[in-house]
Parts: sequence; structure tokens; C-alpha cells
Amino acid sequence: MKILINSLFFGLLFFCSFSQQENNSSNQIPEKQMPSSIIDSHTLSNYKDISIEHSHLNLSVDFESKLLYGSVTHTINNPTKDSVFILDTKYLSIESVSDQDGNKLDFSYGEKDDLLGDPLMVSINAKTKKVTIKYSTTTQSEALDWLNAEQTAGKEFPFMYTQGQSIFTRSWIPIQDTPGLRITYSADITVPNGMLPVMSAANPQIKNNSNTYSFEMNQPIPPYLIALAVGNLEFKKIDNRTGVYAEPNMLESSVAEFTDMGKMVDAAEELYGKYDWERFDVIVLPPSFPFGGMENPRLTFATPTIIAGDRSLVSLIAHELAHSWSGNLVTNATWNDFWLNEGFTVYFERRIMEALYGKDYTEMLALLGYQDLQEELVTLDPKMQTLKLKMKGMHPDDAMSDIAYEKGYFLLRMIENNVGREAMDSFLKKYFNDHKFQTIVTEEFLAYLEANLIKGKRELLKIDEWVYQPGLPDNCPVIECKRFINVESAIDDFMLTNTIAKLNTTEWSTHEWIHFVKNLPDSVNSNQMMLLDNAFNLSSSGNSEILAVWFERSIVSNYRTAFPFMKEFLVRVGRRKFLQPIYESLAKTEEHKAWAKDVYKEARSNYHYVSFNTIDKILE
Ligand code: BES
Ligand code: ZN
Repeated sequence: MKILINSLFFGLLFFCSFSQQENNSSNQIPEKQMPSSIIDSHTLSNYKDISIEHSHLNLSVDFESKLLYGSVTHTINNPTKDSVFILDTKYLSIESVSDQDGNKLDFSYGEKDDLLGDPLMVSINAKTKKVTIKYSTTTQSEALDWLNAEQTAGKEFPFMYTQGQSIFTRSWIPIQDTPGLRITYSADITVPNGMLPVMSAANPQIKNNSNTYSFEMNQPIPPYLIALAVGNLEFKKIDNRTGVYAEPNMLESSVAEFTDMGKMVDAAEELYGKYDWERFDVIVLPPSFPFGGMENPRLTFATPTIIAGDRSLVSLIAHELAHSWSGNLVTNATWNDFWLNEGFTVYFERRIMEALYGKDYTEMLALLGYQDLQEELVTLDPKMQTLKLKMKGMHPDDAMSDIAYEKGYFLLRMIENNVGREAMDSFLKKYFNDHKFQTIVTEEFLAYLEANLIKGKRELLKIDEWVYQPGLPDNCPVIECKRFINVESAIDDFMLTNTIAKLNTTEWSTHEWIHFVKNLPDSVNSNQMMLLDNAFNLSSSGNSEILAVWFERSIVSNYRTAFPFMKEFLVRVGRRKFLQPIYESLAKTEEHKAWAKDVYKEARSNYHYVSFNTIDKILE
């Protein structure tokens, strides 16, 4: 009731004072409140005028009702003494708002936006330094995944984790949810007996008796990097600054898989300067995690599907580590500049991989990336093929295509080819150093690039075509990869002779297998699939990347033997990168679509919002 009165009263106040300025249609922030030229269109907050400096969370984790409840206290900076502090919220239940002295503050909601949520408007005055919001999440909160014990590795304790990127933090914390802002944070998190919470902050390594744990992140980060996971977790170190958190029965295999993590950090530092975040740990989440990895500072969140037993998928760790520079130290100021996070990170990732495992190995990764990009360009809307995006009104997660990642990578590689590696490396080192703990937009980067590396060659290198035009410019580097040439002739032999007798696969890595399966022609029939399956056990491969391409291929060839294995995979694994192409391929024929819908009935509850939201649309 209090909330209702508040909203009526304050809603009216807000409407009266700002309505005449409401001329920038799609978000309700009056222009006056956006003085700077760089505007993030995915926040409804007034972070340019009043900004959060520090947030303190005090939350309890309730697994029974699947809610977080408690409070957040924001310390704010309000130089122009504005009287309305606007925060992003989505699917939160706000109980009360007060200042540093405990005085109640009026609050109301602005106009709801289906994508961006409900802006929370808090009435403050010149003396307001801190704003405490008592709240709880709801069962709709998009950031949160709550898993029953049966959905975990140990089957004994439940599990929960958050996913903030890109605009989900607002569904578990009322905050100014924009990558254009950097804040420090601290937290007190209370969990049930026997469970350990970990965050993108300084973390405990063992459980305590009080069940409340304190966290501190004293380096300023964008709100999308605030993260929490709670489970029956244990920690094991790899070396002095790296280690793994996982459920006990996953810990040994995870540590064995990630044993090179320390060396990766060393190699990364060697390339582009000091690792600035103290520790680099990884938490292995349950298989519902919708991404391969998420670069939460100090604690990368990772899918268990990279634990292949042979360390063949650890480039993902190199990728998330690289984000400690590109993304976490230097952050895209808006989601339209997402390629500055991901393109740089893929480039950096491959440089780390090259340092550890050599050029031949890394060229396989680059060529697989190139082929994915080529494939994507065939179907992707040209408007989404530019590095700089215009995503107003769209969900920023839709930018997660190979454009930001691979086109971004190839732009940097093209520049490297042109200026030489030495100049490239000193440029990147300086770039990270000059912009650390800052945010940046594409135009700023281009000006910096021109001034510091490619002086006068912007046109010659077709930089603007790369950034602002769809497709791939004709100066895109060509990758030659000896190891894949062998694979391609193996495919030809197989198709010609219809036997596996001549296939010499003993030396093949995971990447050669992926290349092989992906490049089998569409005319492969189910008998030929059977032949390959019997010889190489592909349907029951322990490698998730091989499985995923094999299943896609099995759908095209209608190779039914693989379907029960595919079902098991779809029910267990929630990683969108695997699910999306498989479901899309299944949705192409009525028969397969009916099968997919059946599987999905069972699988959907094992997926995070990010994944089920995508799959819902495919199977609609
Ligand atoms: N930061 C991304 C994940 C992300 C992107 C989450 C956009 C939400 C919106 C992460 O670093 C990433 O790129 N993960 C990739 C792995 C990588 C090796 C390409 C993934 O999850 O597949
Ligand atoms: Zn990434």
C-alpha cells in the first residue's frame, strides 16, 4: 500500500517536472540529464548526472523460495544537486528507500519499458550521500538461475548463480545498469549451512561457521560484472594466484583441465602488461550455465562442458583471462561498442594460445573462427554486420554474433599484418595502460588508433569500411592452416571410397575433428554417418564441441542413431551456443521439430533465461 501511495504521489511529481522535456522518444530520460555526447540507450538511469560510486549489498540467499532478499546501499555523487536519482530495475520488489540517516525517501516508478525494465525514481536532496533500498528479487528475475540438487554434479545441495552481462544486473540489484559507469562494491551474503558464496571480488577459500560472508571489490567495475554464485563449493589452488572453485566431485578434473592457467596469466602479462586484478580464479558451474565463460573479475564463471579430459578446450580460459584487459580494464561504454570488448579479446586470446601452444595450433582456432564468420554472414541481417552497432530498442545480447568476435579479430589481425607485430604489441600495451579503468566508444578508439599506430593510413587500411559497413572488406587476412588441408583430403577420400580405411586420424586434435565433421558435405547419408560413428564413437564423444557439430550433422543426414544421444545432451547442457544451432536445424522439418518440442518439454527447466528465451522463439 505504501508503495502504491508513493508511486501515485511521486509519479505525479516526476511527470510535472519533466514532461515538457520529454522529446527523446524511446527512453524517458530528459535530454538535460544526458549532457555528454556518449549515451547508453540501454539504461533508464540518470548516471551522467548522479552516479553511484560504491554499492554495498546485504543479501540473504533463500533457496526455498528462490529469492535474494535484503538491501543495497549506494554511495552517490551528485555534483549538480539534482533531486531525482534514477536507477534501473526489472522484476524486483522494492520495499522501502532511505538515506544515510535512516530517513525514508519517496520513490516511484517511471514508465515501464518491456526491454529495459522499470526505472526507479528516488527523491533525494542536496545532503543525500547514501541511498539504501530494501528489496527482494522475484521468480522472474532474469539474471538468476536456481538449480535443484538433482541439477548439480553432487546432487546433494542446490546451486544458484547470476549472469549480469549485458542488462541483467538490474534484475537482481536496483542499480545504474550501464557499462558506461564504474563502481566499487562490497557485500555481506548469508547462505544456508554447508554452502559457500563466491563473487567477482576477493573471495573466501573455505566455508565458515557463521554462514555470512563478506566481500570487497575495491577496483571500480561496470555493474554487469557484479556476480554471485552459491553452492557446495570447494577451492583448490593451481599456483599462487590461480585456482578453481567447483563442486567437490568436479574439483580434481577441473584443476587437471585448467592446469595451464598460471602460465596463461604469465603469457598475457608478457604481452600487454601487468595483470591488475590480484587473483585469477575460475568457478566451474553446473551445465545449465548459458555461456561458455563469463569474465567476472577475479573469478571467471565457466561451463563444465569445457572439461574434455584432454585440455583441448582451454582457449576459453585464455579468452576470459584476456577480458581482464579488454573488457574489464578497458570497457565498451555502450553495447553498440561491444566489439571493443570481444574482438580485442579474441585477438588477445589467440596471442596467449600462440605463446603457449604455438602457431600451428592457434591457426586452427583462427580458421574455425573465420569459417563460422563466413557462415554467419550468409544469413545475418546486414544491419548487424557492422562492428559499430545501432542497438537502440534491441536487446544488447543480440550483438553476440561472430561479427564482434571474429570480424573484430580479423580487423586487428589485418592491422597487425600491416604494421608488424612489434608495433602492434607496443600499441596494444599502451592502449590498455592509457585507458585502464575507463570506458571507451568506437570513435574514441579509432582516433587513438590513428594517432598512435596507423597515422595517415586509415583510408588505405579501409578501417571505416571494417567498422561501419556490412560484410568483410577485401583486405581481410587469409589463413593458411596446414593441419586442416590434411583433414580436407581425408573428407574427399572418405566420400570417394566410402570407407574409413584410409583415414589417418590418430594424430587429430579436437579442432581437426571439428573441422572434419563441419565440412562433411550435406550429401553424407545416414549409412556413411553410421560408418563414422561405429569407427570413432562420435555420438558418445566426451568432447562437447565435437558432439555439438556431430549432432548438427546428424540432423541434416537424418542419422537417427544419434538422436537419443542428442536428447541426453539437450536435456543436460544449457549452453546457448550449442543449443541454438541444434534447435534451429531441428526446426527446419516438421518431423524434427515435433521431436525437438518433445525434448524441450523436459529440457527447458534446465536452462537459464538467456537460453530458454532464445529457444522459445525458435520452437514457437
Ligand atoms: N562476455 C562473454 C559472454 C557474454 C557476451 C555474455 C555477451 C553476455 C552477453 C564471454 O567472454 C564470451 O565471449 N564467452 C564465449 C566464449 C568465448 C571463448 C568466445 C561463450 O560463452 O561462448
Ligand atoms: Zn568474451
